[in-house]
Amino acid sequence: MKKFLLMNGPNLNMLGIREPGVYGTMTLSAIEEMLIAHAAEHDCELECFQSNHEGALIDKLHAAHGACDGIVYNPGAHTHYSYAIRDAIASIAVPVAEVHISDVDAREPFRAISVVAPACVAQVKGLGVEGYKVAFDGLLSGWATRLGEGFEAKAQGKIIVGGEM
Ligand code: DQA
Repeated sequence: MKKFLLMNGPNLNMLGIREPGVYGTMTLSAIEEMLIAHAAEHDCELECFQSNHEGALIDKLHAAHGACDGIVYNPGAHTHYSYAIRDAIASIAVPVAEVHISDVDAREPFRAISVVAPACVAQVKGLGVEGYKVAFDGLLSGWATRLGEGFEAKAQGKIIVGGEM
């Protein structure tokens, strides 16, 4: 059975309360349950992890090496500045799909910069919580091995789903 990991970074434990106009009203535990059920429908196991602490997230990424088949990861604000998270993603031989509930390219300019993107196989943004499923499906369908086969929605060898292309 394939094993996947759902990771959420800082402040995503506040989903449901946090800026509902931007992130919707679904709580993180409801999102986790939704993705666990979605993974089960595909005969996959899904573990969930959220932390507000960079070091804990880095430790979790390291522990995923050799232990799972793919990671659906919303790094929250770490996306925009954490080279340590980017290096941790690049350190492991596990494909990571970056997810953002909102369209990070259509908000404040600092959100359009993802320092983790070069280490990820794809970025899914602006699809709301459905984006987590899209990222899972993409990893399961072999996004990690299909780069360079004309599958990219955008240049840079990167799969970009959602938002303004
Ligand atoms: C987010 C977008 C980030 O800019 C923000 O810091 C978050 C959530 C999203 O899911 O849209 O915490 O990653």
